[in-house]
Amino acid sequence: MQNPNSIEAVQSLLARQNYVCDRALATVAFLALKLGRPLFLEGEPGTGKTEIAKALAKGLNRRLIRLQCYEGLDAASAVYEWNFPAQMIAIRTAEAEGNADRDTLQRDLFGADYLIERPLLQAMRPDEHGAPVLLIDEIDRTDEPFEAFLLEALSDYQVTIPELGPIVAPEPPIVILTSNRTREVHDALKRRCLYHWVDYPDFEREIDILHARVPEAAEALSREVVAFVQRLRTEDLFKKPGVAETVDWAKCLLALDVIGLSPQVIADTLGAILKYQDDIQRLQGTEAKRLLDEVRAELAPA
Ligand SMILES: Nc1ncnc2c1ncn2[C@@H]1O[C@H](COP(=O)(O)OP(=O)(O)O)[C@@H](O)[C@H]1O
Ligand SMILES: [Mg+2]
Repeated sequence: MQNPNSIEAVQSLLARQNYVCDRALATVAFLALKLGRPLFLEGEPGTGKTEIAKALAKGLNRRLIRLQCYEGLDAASAVYEWNFPAQMIAIRTAEAEGNADRDTLQRDLFGADYLIERPLLQAMRPDEHGAPVLLIDEIDRTDEPFEAFLLEALSDYQVTIPELGPIVAPEPPIVILTSNRTREVHDALKRRCLYHWVDYPDFEREIDILHARVPEAAEALSREVVAFVQRLRTEDLFKKPGVAETVDWAKCLLALDVIGLSPQVIADTLGAILKYQDDIQRLQGTEAKRLLDEVRAELAPA
């Protein structure tokens, strides 16, 4: 599968995977592919950052390799580890059989059979379908030393395993990094990448996303759902609902055979859009009705 040759081609490739991509995002994605640069996507949770990597991999028919970041993630878990238990067993077996030739054993123990490849190393291996998509997800959860390490790995797409020597990617992977911005990621890493802030979609785009993700939802319900969620995002909430929540909510409402919002329906299903008790409490009582009335007034044809 060839890389898309225009911004529109990126948009339609993603649309075929039910991913709605605005022109600004499609432009950086196109450039990242064309120039072979990593793409750094930052934004609120649930705005489609992880999903675009999945959609791109599917659309390009490439393997998706995901490195999920977490606090305390270190190079060993990201690149490779030696299979220590298996090495121990091999040593014991060799001893028991009395053929523990030291040099041969050492060579075998630090060979491919005992190497556990983690995502970064996997992403440097050749693949018949072309370079894989490497998703480095939620980088803001790691710490600065790991960032520094990544910076180096992303600058030459090469890892050196002391016992085996350097391993070089025949073709650099397509790298997408995401951050939910729970902290600032270091400038140096961002500078290596093409950067894009993924914002909440506007009304029309979010409707498009619902069409793509929950096509069975009736138009009137979709519009109410999106308008209500968009209205909620302007409230002073501890955690604003993302697109993921809009999609989930629409699915919940469909499962309940709801055809239109009401204060009661909203109260019953609030857990699909708000995930903090304080936020949920705010919306209880007359507040949901007030917001719904506002939304209805906005949606009503003038
Ligand atoms: N632009 C989009 N097009 C289609 N679906 C989207 C889009 N943005 C978000 N979604 C929906 O929201 C869900 C969550 O998105 P995700 O990529 O996990 O968010 P993030 O990684 O930004 O936290 C996706 O599984 C998808 O259903
Ligand atoms: Mg994500």
